[in-house]
Amino acid sequence: MELFTTRVSMQEHLCIEQKPDPASVVIFGGWGDLTKKKLLPSLFNLYKKKLLPEKFYAIGVLSYLDSPATDEDYRYRAFEVLGEGGDEEAFSEKLHYVPGRYDDPATYKALADKLSALDKANGEKPRHIFYLAVPPAFFPKIIKGLSAVGLTAKCPEGKTHCPIVVVEKPFGQDLASAKALASELRGLLDEDQIYRIDHYLGKETVQNILMLRFANAIFEPLWNNKYIEHIQITVSEDIGVGSRAGYYDKAGCLRDMFQNHMLQILSLITMEPPAVFEAERYRQEKFQLLKAIRPFDARGIEKWIVRGQYEAGEISGADVAGYLEEEGIDTRSNTETFVAMKVMVDNWRWAGVPFYLRSGKRMKERVSEVAVYFKRVPHSIFPMVPPEMLTQNLLVLNIQPLEGISLTLEAKRPGPKACLGALTLDFDYRTIFGVTPPEPYERLLLDAMLGDQSLFISTDGLEAAWMLLDPVLKNWVDGDGADLHRYEAGSWGPDAANELIKRDGFFWRTS
Ligand code: BG6
Repeated sequence: MELFTTRVSMQEHLCIEQKPDPASVVIFGGWGDLTKKKLLPSLFNLYKKKLLPEKFYAIGVLSYLDSPATDEDYRYRAFEVLGEGGDEEAFSEKLHYVPGRYDDPATYKALADKLSALDKANGEKPRHIFYLAVPPAFFPKIIKGLSAVGLTAKCPEGKTHCPIVVVEKPFGQDLASAKALASELRGLLDEDQIYRIDHYLGKETVQNILMLRFANAIFEPLWNNKYIEHIQITVSEDIGVGSRAGYYDKAGCLRDMFQNHMLQILSLITMEPPAVFEAERYRQEKFQLLKAIRPFDARGIEKWIVRGQYEAGEISGADVAGYLEEEGIDTRSNTETFVAMKVMVDNWRWAGVPFYLRSGKRMKERVSEVAVYFKRVPHSIFPMVPPEMLTQNLLVLNIQPLEGISLTLEAKRPGPKACLGALTLDFDYRTIFGVTPPEPYERLLLDAMLGDQSLFISTDGLEAAWMLLDPVLKNWVDGDGADLHRYEAGSWGPDAANELIKRDGFFWRTS
């Protein structure tokens, strides 16, 4: 295959970035994994890029156990996770700490006092963002605690800078529990105060799906069942369950990856353009799309969905244990670590186009991509070259670890008159822009400070995704587990997943 390098005109870029009005971030789970690995480093990056408001501050709330005693101790700890940058000292000055148990009213009183003292010292009232980096069982408890001291007061009409609450998945275990949790949150907060994170939506390459589709005139006319044959979405991971056995064995791949990331990517690929990129309209379009996905028929579900679980194998030359041997996993567990599914979108644009989605742990490689296969030319004008011998146009949106786009075309090769061959135009973010794209949490934290809900999951969207997957989960629970296919760690998943796509005459891209 030949390679073209794409030229990018750096003069013609158009960047719009807003700096938020005064804001503060209160992190419950102030020394949890997410805070250490993502939230503090992302806030620090925003600081270094001068994207935080001038008078920004953050407060870590953590229980007394294993907690520092003063702001100074908390700052000292934070140094461990901020990485290099030269500005650690100045940034850490913005960090504060409140100790206390989440079920103790005194914690919220202390927090309210601290917020009021800091706001007074800063001379302005910022938007308060409460980030719940804790398991969902704590959500209602914490929000009630905040609300009891008036920290999450609902927003009067027309008022901006209202307090908001950011929550992390899992948003329920099934449709019923997701609805119960959503209604509990809605009882305490307005919809425009609830920011549900899906970190995939913060990835540059995922956001680029919308830019590519709706900021160019050349793709949209082809983006339908007339020109597209099928689409594959792959999010494969080479890591196993790691230290998250307790969570993962209860969740499984369908809840962990499909209920959120996979369906979100699918909806970005397939949604209709909103008239304007504005949170409510954009989320409404995604919701409409999710509603248009054909429900899975419980009878013969194997034709549509395959689940698997990894066995011992080898990844990059190293032996790895099977799922049932992993620490903390029940040795009789029926939890799936892999899912492949065929999805149909029953609307005018997509009728008849199959979408194949797969995701799993301990697979051969870490790859996230969307592969759009265009239909073949209807007729070949080249003598002795039938249309099926011409390369099928393929557009690949690389989400990670490759970050870019590639387009495969058929083209003339030098030499004989009728000499054709595949060419791939490749665009790679890092090479072209010479920078590492920002962490998804940077974008999402910034948007939360800006009060922009576009990249967060709405209650409607959440429930629509659960509605689709709930019958599948029920089917698996009620079944005898016979449909759980084993696959070797380091493979591309179980054979049944290959059969799923092969039945329609297609193949997974990398298998
Ligand atoms: C998380 C899942 O939401 O996404 C993890 O809980 C998964 O199981 C992770 O590993 C993948 O995210 P990324 O950004 O590494 O692709």
